[in-house]
Amino acid sequence: MTVKYSELKKRLNIEIKKPEQSELASLTHYLQSNTEEARGYFENSTLDYLEDYSAEVAEPWFQGLLPIKWDIPFPPPEDPKFTFIDLFAGIGGFRLGLQKLGGKCVFSSEWNHYAQKTYEANFGEVPFGDITKIDESEIPNHDILVGGFPCQPFSIAGVSKKNSLGKDHGFLDETQGTLFFDIVRIIKEKRPKAFLLENVKNLVSHDKGNTFRVISNSIDKLNYTFYPMVLDGKYFVPQHRERIIMVGFDKKRFKGEEQFEFPKMPQNPPKVIEDILEKSVDPKYTLSDKLWNYLQRYAAKHKAAGNGFGFGLVNFDGISRTLSARYYKDGSEILIPQEGKNPRRLTPRECARLQGYPEKFKIPVSDTQAYKQFGNSVVTPLMQEVGKQIIKTIFEYDLTPAS
Ligand SMILES: C[S@@+](CC[C@H](N)C(=O)[O-])C[C@H]1O[C@@H](n2cnc3c(N)ncnc32)[C@H](O)[C@@H]1O
Repeated sequence: MTVKYSELKKRLNIEIKKPEQSELASLTHYLQSNTEEARGYFENSTLDYLEDYSAEVAEPWFQGLLPIKWDIPFPPPEDPKFTFIDLFAGIGGFRLGLQKLGGKCVFSSEWNHYAQKTYEANFGEVPFGDITKIDESEIPNHDILVGGFPCQPFSIAGVSKKNSLGKDHGFLDETQGTLFFDIVRIIKEKRPKAFLLENVKNLVSHDKGNTFRVISNSIDKLNYTFYPMVLDGKYFVPQHRERIIMVGFDKKRFKGEEQFEFPKMPQNPPKVIEDILEKSVDPKYTLSDKLWNYLQRYAAKHKAAGNGFGFGLVNFDGISRTLSARYYKDGSEILIPQEGKNPRRLTPRECARLQGYPEKFKIPVSDTQAYKQFGNSVVTPLMQEVGKQIIKTIFEYDLTPAS
């Protein structure tokens, strides 16, 4: 006998509402847990939540935790090869890639309710909320920590000044107010075998390189190796999207001897813009005369001043500019020319394709939210390739006989 997730969802009222509902996060994490140990992390709050559902708790499916039939697009792997946690999870761009590699997500955190909704519709799990409020000891053990942390500016003036004076400063100095340091405290406590972080390319040059130096120093202090590299998603999808990818391995475990290499980029991009366009598109995506005139005037003004290149009309046989989280505003960075009409913006489904999301990925939110979510996300096949190299490195090291 099995029980369907969609039935449980109805019976247990798994409905994401504001304000934050960490009990739903606990419950869905509990249902996804495949070991006693992992379940232990979520048991108490799950039982609290289920107090109102005493009949459910007494039911045989719950007592024996019968296998759940995951009638969702991206169920957890049945026979996991490794575990990971998904921080700043957004809509699960990393999770898609790592699950495909046989990874089991044991914890996710994302505080935006609309993103949580998309995440749950696809993975059957409600992420926990604000990571700054989650104690690191409440997070299950895992092999890989994954996170595309927000590219929020680092207020490190004080720290960098101390650095430049060669003065020592406490780790705590650096932990003020930045989400990167939530990643640091979790790595410090849980010591995953490896981490995979992602951010905008400019992180490297931000504040004259100081921000990146603080990151690199913090990783060093954690006693992890550090492999940063800027990679472009254009080798996997028809979109120019450069991101800094940061990978590291626990020196306590690998002694700095692991053999990690970033993936080789395929030479020919498999797709061009035309390949990701929908056949029939609602006229609502066509720019109004007002907006189109405005964008043209704006571009002309900036061209005359010698800067910027305004809107981005795509070539059907080329690739697009980078999709951003502000695409919902005017769509100006990626516009599709139309014969005899004003250009149009991409549909949310086309944005999903531009980030390499499979067709079965559900989009249960408004267009505005969907644009923000895909603009914030990652080129999933690229992250999968990086993930593959991390797994390979870990497995190969474990198989190497000790000398
Ligand atoms: C750059 S996006 C990452 C997107 C993700 N990699 C994906 O594939 O969709 C950063 C995410 O961090 C979330 N976030 C920001 N601050 C947070 C916090 N304190 N706790 C949890 N999530 C947070 C944002 O809502 C946003 O979705």
